[in-house]
Amino acid sequence: MEALKEQVRSFWNQASCGERYAEGDTVKQQLEEQARVRYELEPYLFPFAKFAEGKGRDVLEIGVGMGADHLEWAKSNPRSLTGIDLTERAAEFTRDRLELYGLHSDIRVADAENLPFPDESFDVVFSYGVLHHTPDTAKAIREVYRVLRTGGICRIMIYHKYSMVGYMLWARYGLLSGRPFRSLADIYARYLESPGTKAYSVAEARGMFRDFASVTVSTQLGFGDLLSGGAGQRHRGILLSVARKLWPRWFIRRFLRNHGLGMMIEASRAAARPAFMAG
Ligand SMILES: C[S@@+](CC[C@H](N)C(=O)[O-])C[C@H]1O[C@@H](n2cnc3c(N)ncnc32)[C@H](O)[C@@H]1O
Repeated sequence: MEALKEQVRSFWNQASCGERYAEGDTVKQQLEEQARVRYELEPYLFPFAKFAEGKGRDVLEIGVGMGADHLEWAKSNPRSLTGIDLTERAAEFTRDRLELYGLHSDIRVADAENLPFPDESFDVVFSYGVLHHTPDTAKAIREVYRVLRTGGICRIMIYHKYSMVGYMLWARYGLLSGRPFRSLADIYARYLESPGTKAYSVAEARGMFRDFASVTVSTQLGFGDLLSGGAGQRHRGILLSVARKLWPRWFIRRFLRNHGLGMMIEASRAAARPAFMAG
């Protein structure tokens, strides 16, 4: 597990998520361009995150990456803001971004599976596209529960197994490679982003969030499923260029809308059950 985590760290230390969109002459231009492209490609991110709810609350973001969302949390005027990432690279990007806006956050290099915070420290925990990369996702979700206060809320995006992105990768690295019996789990672990990346069915996700209250889970077709933006930093080539031209986007939107890669989960930590009800 620890060896795999080192591989994950090394992968994201080579390039943070979305770095190839960071074009411009100055750091400010680069960070702003990355954020602009991000929210253009993922217009559903703002409605999901509900950044304005950070106001007056203690907010934690797990896996800040290049810090675009973290800046939005900082702008919401939280009581306190904390961000962690497994990589120094992401922590630096995020510190730089906040500094450019004169905003502050306690940003640390830390591990989602062992959060360096006491129990019940936060009102909001946000994590977007992160916890499926860590080797023990269920443990990281237990950590989210532990650091949330009673009544606190988490919003978490992890990957959905039955997605167009998964089927495409299977077509490329299973079917066309003469290995049609390769499982989707194996395909995600080897070919989608960092080594060991996982994706979950809705039922599996609900199982990992069983200790939480009012859990809502929905899936979201994204730019990867629709081949409408970049398709991940590992994938290029003629096959992809052809697919991009022929991709039946209207059909997917109409008939396969539950086959998006993004699985958006909102859950809260309910009041502890009284001791006489426990067990
Ligand atoms: C796909 S990026 C997402 C970053 C950002 N949330 C975004 O949406 O752009 C995944 C991030 O998760 C971080 N990460 C992976 N495993 C982690 C762990 N165990 N603890 C903290 N961060 C982790 C990586 O370093 C990387 O920055």
